[in-house]
Amino acid sequence: MTYSRITGLGYYVPEQVITNDDLTQWMETSDQWIQERTGIKERRFFEHGKDTNYSMAAAASRIALERAGLTPNEVDVIVYATITPDYFFPGSAFLMQRELGMDGKPVIDIREQCSGFVYALSIADQFIKSGMYKSALVVGSEIQSSWIDKSTAGRNIAVIFGDGAGAAVLQATENPQHCILSTHLHADGRFAEDLYVKEPGSSRPGRSATKEMIDDGGFNVHMNGNAVFKHAIVRFGEVISEALDANGFQPTDINLLVPHQANIRISDYVRTQMGLDESQVMNNIQRFGNTTAASIPIALCEAWENGRLKEGDLVCLAAFGSGFTWASALIRW
Ligand code: UT7
Repeated sequence: MTYSRITGLGYYVPEQVITNDDLTQWMETSDQWIQERTGIKERRFFEHGKDTNYSMAAAASRIALERAGLTPNEVDVIVYATITPDYFFPGSAFLMQRELGMDGKPVIDIREQCSGFVYALSIADQFIKSGMYKSALVVGSEIQSSWIDKSTAGRNIAVIFGDGAGAAVLQATENPQHCILSTHLHADGRFAEDLYVKEPGSSRPGRSATKEMIDDGGFNVHMNGNAVFKHAIVRFGEVISEALDANGFQPTDINLLVPHQANIRISDYVRTQMGLDESQVMNNIQRFGNTTAASIPIALCEAWENGRLKEGDLVCLAAFGSGFTWASALIRW
């Protein structure tokens, strides 16, 4: 039986640090409000001309590949999650493939928003388990800062998001002691408009991008924050329990839970609900905000760099986001 193992992790965040106080130059908000409601102290914003979605992903991937001991051309497939691609099409996976010189290798662009990385991991895991590929590069990369409305009208959203990228290299293994044990994916399109960007959409009269659409705010992120919050705290717990039950484990068996970094209050609620202590949960939202598909690989990589992932540890990844989507992965490190 073939399994897949994460053999290398990397992340990249832009240099430009934006503190909560920095945000007050654009909108009415405060460091106190943001910290109390979200836990965020600062986030990174890309600098035009220096970073792109795909260049950040390539930077994270180079680190992950080096740690895995692979050259880019030894990777069989790229699975790339983002909701903020460089072009409307083709996807950023193509641009990163070109950047890394992996011509001819298959690329798969997916969205799936905040659950994007876990979905991408699951897709790569299935390819490896089926024997179709021996290795995969799984990426989450986002530039949110150019999408968000930085005026007071958009402050409930603007203060949450940040930019960055994370990557993981997966390789085939026959050893069931160190591998991805299972992945669990869910979606519920009934709530699509509770967190979405409407434009540019194809099913529009006339052109799919007009000045009126911009003036009407159609290109801005719209979020029903309370609805997202309420569903998130339920679905996180469910999907973590699903992964544990599928493999015969209890919450106390988890060495490290790496949740999507949506809001520290969501993370704390889930931790308490699952009966975990603080040492069992990875949080870095304080420094990076919510980087959507990049948040889990960035947090996972930081955990590894800080010595919080040891061989044999039981690691759980869990995500919830727009769609709604929610997903988990259980890994024996
Ligand atoms: O990755 C998945 C995607 N997103 C999430 O997981 C987000 C889930 N939702 C949340 O994290 C929270 O709903 C938010 C952090 C977005 C908002 O927190 P909240 O406690 O739900 O605040 P609220 O939207 O109910 O607003 C409370 C008050 C309002 O003022 P009034 O009407 O009570 O006078 C807002 O206008 O806070 C005000 N407010 C702000 N004040 C200062 C909203 N945003 C801000 C802000 N600064 N940035």
